[in-house]
Amino acid sequence: MLTIAVSKGRIFEEAVPFLAEAGITPLEDPATSRKLILPTSRADVQLVIIRATDVPTFVEYGAADLGIAGKDVLLEHGSDNLYEPLDLNIARCRLMTAVHKDAPALTGRIRVATKYVKTAQRYFADLGVQAEIIKLYGSMELAPLVGLADCIVDLVDTGNTLRANNLEPRDLIMNISSRLVVNKAAMKMKNRAIAELLRQFEHTLSR
Ligand code: ADP
Ligand code: PRP
Ligand code: MG
Repeated sequence: MLTIAVSKGRIFEEAVPFLAEAGITPLEDPATSRKLILPTSRADVQLVIIRATDVPTFVEYGAADLGIAGKDVLLEHGSDNLYEPLDLNIARCRLMTAVHKDAPALTGRIRVATKYVKTAQRYFADLGVQAEIIKLYGSMELAPLVGLADCIVDLVDTGNTLRANNLEPRDLIMNISSRLVVNKAAMKMKNRAIAELLRQFEHTLSR
């Protein structure tokens, strides 16, 4: 049995063509099903539906053999204990700093609200900027509006969320896309099945 960890929403939806290429069709829709283990059209493959930020944890511990996770999540988690063989080029966005559109240039010690604490710490440290990082779990865009932070580190795609909140993007930290990750032991123990899956996913990417 191969277990693949995915989050519902945009990653699941964009992963469907990759799964289909390998003959994997989920037998239930995670958007409506309450099941967390989804059987698929392949008797030897099941999906586990988890929070996006939990995907590297499940794969690292071998609770899932494979997973699909955003580079933002992998960077924040630290992915030394995982293989990351494929960039699936889905769920593309940018990890950026953003500030209020009328904000003065940031100087001295700044306060940064983000859910990407380690990534932000590393980013500002590399720049030599003194930053106090405030961990949030969502709605980062609110922080500069209510005086919680001078700056946020968050994902930007269309920029609509920033604009709707009178914020503007500043600096690009990293271009983001989702990656296939593989448990290191599974890569050895289930090599034949996983290599075949990788080959099929690569075929989708090459089209
Ligand atoms: P969450 O509930 O953790 O926010 P999402 O499905 O929104 O889950 O995000 C999963 C992944 O999709 C993120 O880790 C990121 O890589 C990517 N992503 C998030 N927001 C966007 C977006 N607006 N456009 C494109 N990709 C995104
Ligand atoms: C994500 C991200 C930003 C927004 C950026 O939120 O956290 O808020 O998308 O996209 P945009 O530039 O196209 O507006 P998401 O839609 O995932 O909502 P969430 O708060 O539930 O994560
Ligand atoms: Mg989201």
